[in-house]
Amino acid sequence: MADMMWAGRFSKQVDETVNAFNSSIAFDGRMYRHDIQGSMAHAEMLGDCGIIPKEDSLEIIDGLKEILSDIDSGRLELDPNAEDIHMFIEAELTKRLGDVGKRLHTARSRNDQVAVDIRLYLRDEIKEIRALVRTLAVTLLNMAKEHTETVMPGYTHLQRAQPVTFAHHLMAYVWMLLRDMERLDDTAKRMNYCPLGSGALAGTTYKTNRQQTSELLGFTAPMPNSLDGVSDRDFCVELGCALSLIMTHLSRLSEEIIMWCSWEFKFVELDDAFATGSSIMPQKKNPDVTELIRGKTGRVNGDLVTLLSMLKGLPLAYNKDMQEDKEAIFDAVDNVKLCVKTFIPMLSTMRVLKDNMRNAAARGFINATDCADYLVKKGMPFRDAYKITGTLVAQCIEKGLTLETLPVDEYRKMSELFGEDVYEAISLDTCVRERKSEGGPSPEAVKAQIAQAEKALETE
Ligand code: ARG
Repeated sequence: MADMMWAGRFSKQVDETVNAFNSSIAFDGRMYRHDIQGSMAHAEMLGDCGIIPKEDSLEIIDGLKEILSDIDSGRLELDPNAEDIHMFIEAELTKRLGDVGKRLHTARSRNDQVAVDIRLYLRDEIKEIRALVRTLAVTLLNMAKEHTETVMPGYTHLQRAQPVTFAHHLMAYVWMLLRDMERLDDTAKRMNYCPLGSGALAGTTYKTNRQQTSELLGFTAPMPNSLDGVSDRDFCVELGCALSLIMTHLSRLSEEIIMWCSWEFKFVELDDAFATGSSIMPQKKNPDVTELIRGKTGRVNGDLVTLLSMLKGLPLAYNKDMQEDKEAIFDAVDNVKLCVKTFIPMLSTMRVLKDNMRNAAARGFINATDCADYLVKKGMPFRDAYKITGTLVAQCIEKGLTLETLPVDEYRKMSELFGEDVYEAISLDTCVRERKSEGGPSPEAVKAQIAQAEKALETE
């Protein structure tokens, strides 16, 4: 084994087991681009401030560029025995440039380096996730446009409650996703501060220019406190939370799709390319994708809990525990991307069985509220109207009738206010058409919210 970076202080090589245990390159290797980006900015600043000779700074930057292109092209492989990506790149630079390479780590520590790298890395990932979530929102919005007249039952307690449209139901998810996008923006904004220059924990005696590195790396400003600079991982927790909520939204819709696919509902049919069969039951067509998304939501929630638990007892400043941040947040990021990417084509190929939705809406007395409202509009207090309608529903159930088929005489036995026009008032189409309060399910009201959401998505 090669000498460790800190061999001077130690009389022994580190034990093989400890080396393997400590090493994080297997998972932080994915940040090589961002590590190099951070090092280039640092080297430029060192040269400009006269902390290292300008020629050395330029040579380091060139060397780092070459390493970057060698890793990108596969000419240089990451050494699995290196302790982490930071040590690997620095060692490689020194291998290539000799003494000049050894100057890079002046006025810097791995503690501020890793803090910069994760921020840069997650900043890119957030952009990608945000774009995916936006595409998903647009997909749902386009589906909604086609279903403003598709009547379906709305549920509470999973009991048929009042009629809505499929467009209305889909739009509820569009608003959730718009909030998810806002949350990603907030997270990105709050984490965009530069810890570089915090050093190990207590800054440095060199006359560095933190403003310069912050600007070079596209941060809003340097972090104002070096202890906070190296030990803050709030942004990982915040992103983890935003990701958990995205998964929660996907999972709720997944759960609905799973139900809707069942023979008991049959509201939708998944495309064959997005369903799976059974190894034994020839009739099966399973919604595996949605189930896996529901399952992975637990995993992403677990990542969030990992981050919170990792941080809660840590004294300032850096502690090795913090190395555990990466696997958790990377796992969450990877799985969210995977889920959204699969969800989009699954949704857009899903067949909507409008007739089944409508038939379900026609059963289950979902026009009972409208029947009560009919009496209210004729002057009866709502509570009395509610009671009368409840009695009528009970009669219908007993006689195997619906409110639409109950004879008008039966209605009039309960109240003189009932007339032939009750049938029109409680017809499914009226019930949906008249629910045009702002944010309601009528085709007219839904078209208004679609326009509103479209505008919100455009400004993105
Ligand atoms: N691999 C470490 C991490 O991910 C880098 C920082 C190491 N710093 C240290 N003082 N050991 O957190």
